[in-house]
Amino acid sequence: MRGFGTPPMKNARNDLDIRFEGAGVSFGTRVALQPLTLGISGKRIGVIGLNGSGKTTFARLINGLTKPSVGRVIVNGRDMSGEKTAASDVGFIFQSPQNQIILPIVRDDIAFGLKRRGFTKAEIEAKVEGVLARFGAEALADRRAHELSGGELQMAALCSVLATGPSILILDEPTNQLDLKNRALVEKIIAGLPESAIVITHDLELIAGFERVLLFHEGRLAADAPAAEAIARYREIAA
Ligand SMILES: Nc1ncnc2c1ncn2[C@@H]1O[C@H](COP(=O)(O)OP(=O)(O)O)[C@@H](O)[C@H]1O
Ligand SMILES: [Mg+2]
Repeated sequence: MRGFGTPPMKNARNDLDIRFEGAGVSFGTRVALQPLTLGISGKRIGVIGLNGSGKTTFARLINGLTKPSVGRVIVNGRDMSGEKTAASDVGFIFQSPQNQIILPIVRDDIAFGLKRRGFTKAEIEAKVEGVLARFGAEALADRRAHELSGGELQMAALCSVLATGPSILILDEPTNQLDLKNRALVEKIIAGLPESAIVITHDLELIAGFERVLLFHEGRLAADAPAAEAIARYREIAA
């Protein structure tokens, strides 16, 4: 039984502990994700697969944005199926970051998530400056989000999400809309993140060094292997 009011049993910070226990998702009669049982720990997990294979559904289960139709998803000791809000220790960068920037000015958007978490004004200011400095993104602070380029937008979204101090970051196709220069920048940022990261991508180079890559096919986990092996299997499927 889920212990209502039980504090989350959080691991040492930045340690990833995710368990899928027969968790599956259907939308009406369409099965987006077949019941899946697996554990995820470690620093870097890649997720690949054809369009519509269930990657985003898998990721949304982790932060509770999507609830399992069957089974459970436990994140750092917390059963996400029963949580009303998205997990605060799971940061999620959406496929289209323009959809997650809520306020017109970057600085205000970063502050917004912090305000909702009840930080004081001084704490918010320090955290906003801190995250901008961490990514060398100070120049974005007073820019209008709708005027930013794809790479700048990705950076602003990263700042907003990481300012709140999640232990896990999920990036859904983070290099999709980026030119080579911004892609390289995002790759470098991902490599340097102390946070655990789950990277969903069609950009196979981005996950080429990962020790663990999950391949989804038609809503099923088709491979759970080091990058080279999962990518080889993916090429077979796509051929
Ligand atoms: N909210 C939804 N309503 C109905 N069908 C959905 C919804 N979200 C996803 N799906 C379906 O579930 C399947 C998996 O989608 P998704 O997880 O977004 O795939 P991917 O991220 O791998 O492209 C697709 O067939 C998609 O159309
Ligand atoms: Mg997707």
